[in-house]
Amino acid sequence: MHVVITGAGRGIGRTLADRFRARGDTLTGTARDGSEQVVLDVADPSQHADMAAQLEGQPVDLLICNAGVYLDKGQGIEGYPAEMWAQSFAINVTGVFLTVQALLPNLRAARGKVAILSSQMASHSRAPGGSYIYRASKAAALNLGRNLATDLRADGIAVGIYHPGWVKTDMGGPDAEITSDQATEGLIEQFDALSLDNTGCFETWDGRPHAY
Ligand SMILES: NC(=O)c1ccc[n+]([C@@H]2O[C@H](COP(=O)([O-])OP(=O)(O)OC[C@H]3O[C@@H](n4cnc5c(N)ncnc54)[C@H](OP(=O)(O)O)[C@@H]3O)[C@@H](O)[C@H]2O)c1
Repeated sequence: MHVVITGAGRGIGRTLADRFRARGDTLTGTARDGSEQVVLDVADPSQHADMAAQLEGQPVDLLICNAGVYLDKGQGIEGYPAEMWAQSFAINVTGVFLTVQALLPNLRAARGKVAILSSQMASHSRAPGGSYIYRASKAAALNLGRNLATDLRADGIAVGIYHPGWVKTDMGGPDAEITSDQATEGLIEQFDALSLDNTGCFETWDGRPHAY
C-alpha cells in the first residue's frame, strides 16, 4: 500500500509515518524543510504542482491530510488579527483541498482513500468558546471532506474526517490526554476500516462517531 502523509516531519504525522513504514507500507512523507521525500508547504500552490510532477504515475492508496496549525491558541477577544485568519485557512482548509486536487490522478489510479485530520474543535454542537480561527478552519475542513466524499464516490475514492484525540505533540502540549502512539494506533485502525460504505464519516481516533 502506498501512503502519502503531509506534515510527516513531526507530531502525529511523524508517528503515523513511522507506523506505516514499520508495517511495510510504502510511505511518501512531505515536509516543508526537506526532511521527507517531498518538499511541501501546503499553502503554496507551486509546491503542490511540483509534488504532482514528482509523484506522477505512482498510485496512492491512502492520502493523509495531516499538516495543520493552531495559531490562535490563547488569543483574547481583542486579538485574532486578519492575517492569522488568512494564514490558518490557507494551511488548514485550502491546503487540504490543494493536496487532494494535486494527487487526484494518483488516488483515481488506486481507487484510494483520503483521511483528513480535523478536530473535535470542528464541532458545532460542542462550542465552549475561544479559538475562533482554529475552530472555524477545522469546521471548514470537515465540511470540505464531507462534500469531497460525495463527489469522489464516483471515482471509488472514500473520504474520512477524524478527530485524533487531544494528543501530546507540540500542538497538543504536554498536558494532553493521549500520546501520539495511542492516537496513531487508533487512527490507523479507522483508516483501514474506511470504505465507500462509511465515506464522509466524522470519527474519533478510537472509532466513535463524532457529533457534528
Ligand atoms: N495534537 C492535538 O491534540 C490535535 C487535536 C486535534 C487535531 N489535531 C490535528 O492533527 C494534525 C497534526 O497535529 P500535531 O499535533 O501533530 O501538530 P504539530 O505537532 O504542531 O505538527 C504539525 C505538522 O504540520 C506541519 N505543517 C504546519 N504548517 C504547514 C504548512 N504550511 N505546510 C506543510 N506542513 C505544515 C508541521 O510541519 P513543520 O515542521 O514544517 O512546521 C508539522 O509536521 C493537525 O492537523 C492538527 O490540527 C491535533
